[in-house]
Amino acid sequence: MSHSFDDADDIGHNDSPNAHFQEVLDARLSRRGILLGGLGAAATAVVGVPTTAAAAASAVVGGIDKLKFAPVAKNVADMVTVPPGYTASVVIALGDPLAKGVPEYLNDGTDAQYELRSGDHHDGMDYFGLSSDRTRRDPLSTRRALLAMNHEATTDNFLHPLGTSARPRPAAETAKEIPVHGVAIVEIHRPRGGNFKYLKNSPYNRRITPMTPAEITGPGRGNALMKTLYNPAGTGSRGTINNCGTSRTPWGTLLTGEENWAGYFTRNSGDNTARGNDKSVASLNRYGRLAGGASRHGWETSGSDDMYRRFDISKTGVSADGSDDYRNELNTFGYMVEIDPYDPQSKPQKRTGLGRFAHESGAFSHLVPGLPLAVYMGDDSRNEYIYKWVSTANWSAGDAERDDRLAVGAKYLDDGKLYVAKFNADGSGQWVELSISNPLIAGYAGYAFADQADVMVNARLAADAVGATKMDRPEWCATHPGTGEIYFTLTNNSNRKVDVTSTSHAQVDAANPRSYSDSYNGGPLGSPGNVNGHILRMREMGHKATATAFKWDVYLFGAQADADTGKINLSSLTGDQDFSSPDGLWFSEATGVCWIQTDDGAYTDASNCMMLAALPGEVGDGAARTLHHVKADGTPLDVTTYVGKTPKPTQLKRFLVGSKDCEITGCCETPDGKALFVNIQHPGETILAADVADPTKYVSHWPGNAGYGNGGALARPRSATIVITKDDGGKIGS
Ligand code: FEO
Ligand code: CA
Ligand code: CA
Ligand code: CA
Repeated sequence: MSHSFDDADDIGHNDSPNAHFQEVLDARLSRRGILLGGLGAAATAVVGVPTTAAAAASAVVGGIDKLKFAPVAKNVADMVTVPPGYTASVVIALGDPLAKGVPEYLNDGTDAQYELRSGDHHDGMDYFGLSSDRTRRDPLSTRRALLAMNHEATTDNFLHPLGTSARPRPAAETAKEIPVHGVAIVEIHRPRGGNFKYLKNSPYNRRITPMTPAEITGPGRGNALMKTLYNPAGTGSRGTINNCGTSRTPWGTLLTGEENWAGYFTRNSGDNTARGNDKSVASLNRYGRLAGGASRHGWETSGSDDMYRRFDISKTGVSADGSDDYRNELNTFGYMVEIDPYDPQSKPQKRTGLGRFAHESGAFSHLVPGLPLAVYMGDDSRNEYIYKWVSTANWSAGDAERDDRLAVGAKYLDDGKLYVAKFNADGSGQWVELSISNPLIAGYAGYAFADQADVMVNARLAADAVGATKMDRPEWCATHPGTGEIYFTLTNNSNRKVDVTSTSHAQVDAANPRSYSDSYNGGPLGSPGNVNGHILRMREMGHKATATAFKWDVYLFGAQADADTGKINLSSLTGDQDFSSPDGLWFSEATGVCWIQTDDGAYTDASNCMMLAALPGEVGDGAARTLHHVKADGTPLDVTTYVGKTPKPTQLKRFLVGSKDCEITGCCETPDGKALFVNIQHPGETILAADVADPTKYVSHWPGNAGYGNGGALARPRSATIVITKDDGGKIGS
């Protein structure tokens, strides 16, 4: 969803000991192919340890060392703008049919069968190569693949002929809104001489919705916290919702992060009393579900059927364990969910060990055979935390090629340790394990943890207990393919202040050092905060996934180019580079380019949301900077931070500007780096139900106005996936 602010380098030397393993592995996989499980191919095991490069390099082999395209100017046009010499085309949009017999999308609010159509609000996305005969996983396939993508949310007014109806919500409307959420697996193909198209009738096409049965795995499986009327054993749950960032695992599955799931549920105003004010109330409050708060869509008002009822999580039953109502339903959401895109029959796996919070993407550490792996993750809410998961199992290279992919996932993602980050003022930091054996957690006054599963499921409370550092809304994270450093977008934070006046606000600190005011469209200055966000990066001590100490700096500070370079525009961004509210973040393994995507509401007076290409250096390539804040009583407050080297014009450039009222999110590529897939989420989402009948009131008509689908220049806007190619056939960004 959109989060508007007021609401809701030169490549240096590489001292990493770890070679760019995935690249070597991918090359090897491409030679051999990987047999696809469950679709009729005979399985053969491919075993062996790949030869890793003897010496690591910070730049990606065959990568780009200078961005040569002409930067795209900021603009507010209702179109997708890319540099000269590049072409952007729509691959699939909201409502496009994914199965035989499903009619074309009329886009007039009368369409149905969303469980067999593309969902809405295309978000995180990954590319899963498929062999040319369509039988096998083939990571280096550049012409045929499965795109796996999140459908985070919906612009519900456009799903219905005349917008949404008031509560109680008509069941017919809710029955469309629920399945438009979730995840899609879609086969795509590029014929010789043509461009990528999705295949309507592919047997791989699949929608996973908030109704699709899922397994609960890891420490939370079968725990008392998971018992519901739907699954009294606490081993399964129904569906996934508000999926935001994604990651591709080294073994060829999708990790999809459940983000703002809590808002879909409600509990009545007497629920705290009904629960006897037990510890579940502390948990519900910490995860944002206060008694009496309204749900986002009111689906629970659509009838007594279980598919609606589950969204009311009030305690209504008489059981001691919650097996006769949905009082525990919220504990079954908020996870990294693993999905095998190659097996349409497989069940999504909710990996509870990776913690329960507002997940975005999960960045894998560089893999080293014989050592554990790490997955880095952010919790996107104001003043939430940065986490990492460290597997108990040591990485075995052959696991990347197994065809029982979800069993590999269980091996690395169900048994391990969860850590949270503390950032120090001197540019160092610590990872603190969230363990029930930590006295700060076991003896925490704010919540009585029962066991280790309770610590994972209530990770936010455990992180509170150990004094983790409150961050400016951690969004996506990504691993630099050369250096192995971990990058995090911190999108913005209206609650970052110089004077802390309440527990819901955080004081400026070294890693979140800015609090300033901005004006929008010539209006008055707004309330101070981190208006434009920043991108932080971390280097693990000894480059080890298991490290408990790290170094950090801020790669880039978002800002308007004309803002004060002493207080706000600390990275000295130019008009070709300036951006606000970084969100999506993804590194190309083919080119080494870091793609930065925005979900902004602060600088949208100057430009629609955008995507930039970047060639970052490494932690410590810049300098310390001291910001001179002034408290309300006039006393000074100096905060020293660490700013990455100012990017040269050839190291950071705006590559794309989206259509009106959209956010740019989701990024993946063909393994040769010559086709880049990007999602344009919720163009024209600002629409009142009363205005749906009048197309002149629509903020955007994209992609209908670009010739895609029904409706033409007056079409209802649609979230969509685009593919970008270079007209000379070269790598994207070169
Ligand atoms: Fe769905 Fe945090 O963006
Ligand atoms: Ca401004
Ligand atoms: Ca996001
Ligand atoms: Ca966002």
